[in-house]
Amino acid sequence: MKEYRIAIVGATGLVGRTFLKVLEEKKLPVKEYVLFASKRSAGQTLKFMEKDYIVQELTEHSFDEGFDFALFSAGGSTSKKFAPIAAENGCIVVDNSSYWRMHDDVPLVVPEVNIEDAKNNHGIIANPNCSTIQAMLPLKALDDKYKIKRVVYSTYQAVSGAGRYGLEDLENTDNSKPLKKFAHPIYNNCLPHIDDFTDSGYTKEEIKMINETRKILHHPDLKITATTVRVPVSNSHSEAINVEFENDFEIDDLIKTLKDFPNIIVEDDPANNVYPLAINATGHDEVFVGRIRRDNSVKSGVNLWVVADNIRKGAASNAVQIVEALIS
Ligand code: A2P
Repeated sequence: MKEYRIAIVGATGLVGRTFLKVLEEKKLPVKEYVLFASKRSAGQTLKFMEKDYIVQELTEHSFDEGFDFALFSAGGSTSKKFAPIAAENGCIVVDNSSYWRMHDDVPLVVPEVNIEDAKNNHGIIANPNCSTIQAMLPLKALDDKYKIKRVVYSTYQAVSGAGRYGLEDLENTDNSKPLKKFAHPIYNNCLPHIDDFTDSGYTKEEIKMINETRKILHHPDLKITATTVRVPVSNSHSEAINVEFENDFEIDDLIKTLKDFPNIIVEDDPANNVYPLAINATGHDEVFVGRIRRDNSVKSGVNLWVVADNIRKGAASNAVQIVEALIS
């Protein structure tokens, strides 16, 4: 059996460290890992697979030594510059930044939904936005069965999605320190502002959810709108998703359709206060769905509450699953 060489780019970051945790759990047939970050943390030691790894500075020559795969989570500008260099050297990059996601020749992949798209790569595969990834599992299940007509997303997103500085802003509970990431205090607050605003009035996060959903579900004209909100939760994103269908449904069939889909766990027992919760989703790779109820304001529609660990399924685990699928 072939044994692979894998590069981890951005290994010292929140997602990068979770790449390492997920890789330790998966035990892929890998003969060598090399960990990269910026010059700032070159020389730092990270414990991984019970060994000490010295973090290397990422340079134009980092990919000269023939990697099979590289997992990138080091921001858009790093991906823009270094992913093509890696690909030219025969490496398949799975990139967690938003930079390559909407490029026509770059597949945008959630393994449970469209892993076949990953096979048509030209050396770069994009990992979708965290809030998009978790929505894709229930939406794919329901689209295949009832054909989706329109989606309304309202998100409640954890600060870990904004990296380590996002977490530090939440820990600043008395506002004694200057904010590092957000425009306003996040502790005791909700910010309807994730990523930059565009001239349309939508934020880039909202536009990412709309465009990425259409690409992954292969529905270029799907009607979608989104409001994305940062909430004072350290980890795991929650989403209220309203979906309208072309076809009619029975609620029991719809719930069964969700339960039968890979890596969806339905938690829906309101009488016993059972519904998905961010604190329970953290540390897991599944997508949790509950509060499943008919939308009586349209002919055929449903409301869902969808929760997942944004750093695992929303980033690191999804990327590692893509590599795992390509290896197998
Ligand atoms: P470093 O620790 O050296 O700054 P987060 O999203 O949690 O803030 O993490 C970002 C990750 O991306 C870190 O590992 C960071 O490394 C890495 N990174 C940032 N800029 C670069 C760069 N120019 N080259 C390589 N890695 C980078």
